[in-house]
Amino acid sequence: MEEKIHELIETTKSKALSSQSIRELTDLKVEILGKSGALTGILRGLKDLSPDLRPAMGKIVNEAREKIEAFIALRLSELEREELDKKLSKERIDISIDKNIPLGKLHPLNVIKRKAIDFFVSMGFMVSDSPEIETTYYNFDMLNIPPDHPARELQDTFFITDKILLRTQTSAGQIRTMEKVKPPIKMISPGRVFRSDEADATHTPCFHQLEGLVVDKGITMCDLKGILSSFAKHFFDKDTTIRFRPSYFPFTEPSVEVDVSCVHCGGKGCNVCKGTGFIEILGAGMVNRRVLSGCGIDPDVYTGFAFGMGLDRITAIIHGINDARVPFEGDVRFLKQF
Ligand code: PHE
Repeated sequence: MEEKIHELIETTKSKALSSQSIRELTDLKVEILGKSGALTGILRGLKDLSPDLRPAMGKIVNEAREKIEAFIALRLSELEREELDKKLSKERIDISIDKNIPLGKLHPLNVIKRKAIDFFVSMGFMVSDSPEIETTYYNFDMLNIPPDHPARELQDTFFITDKILLRTQTSAGQIRTMEKVKPPIKMISPGRVFRSDEADATHTPCFHQLEGLVVDKGITMCDLKGILSSFAKHFFDKDTTIRFRPSYFPFTEPSVEVDVSCVHCGGKGCNVCKGTGFIEILGAGMVNRRVLSGCGIDPDVYTGFAFGMGLDRITAIIHGINDARVPFEGDVRFLKQF
């Protein structure tokens, strides 16, 4: 019997040490030490031995079990180590690879937006944020936009409920500022606006405006003209001139549309300015008395001007982009050019 045990230890040892997977090793363990395993069988057979032989043999069997368990455990730790190494080398990330990952950069529209913000900040304006999801109260009511105004129609505006909408203009930010800040006020508020337009070469349902508002004692249209003229010269070219055309906005009185001399032909007339020599970039005017008093500002003491410029349009003019949809598409072939 002793011999049999010795043999069992040896064969199990060589099988265990040559086993190639944890699975194989586990099967071997069951085969030898399991309930109906070889060594377990020998252990059971001890009861048939004469009582005086039993303790000695029992000891031998137990020692055999310990030995077998020890080299199975040894091989198991080797196999686990190998498996981990394999897994790690498969998952290894070579950070030295692909040194030429192209770096992203700012979208041309954001470059223009930041440049415009820098200009106004240098003139002492504060930058204020205003929500894209707005109430009809701020987007229309407080801006003196009457209930029958076409902008309030369902087909022109993205309504969420009948009182909540995606803002159609950054002008809503004028009210939010005037409610919080007492004059003197000098603020700009850039951001996205939304109108329910079918996208085509000149329209997109989302676009970008930069709102400006100045309220103080003695502000006149000359101040508006002065600021916008400096802006145009700083932004486009020192020879750029601006032109005011009478217009109408419910929240400004009087209202103007502001053109800059064409940056491509210098005002001579070309296909960018459609032969007129001028390009429209914004709407503006003197803040309507009703808007001021609605915000608790006395229109007999204070006056102000406001403007809202189209950032997408300015970007398109500067870069010669002739389709309004393209900057929204995220096509790298387009973005790479800037
Ligand atoms: N909110 C106007 C628009 O979207 C522009 C504007 C702003 C006009 C401020 C006057 C004053 O067309």
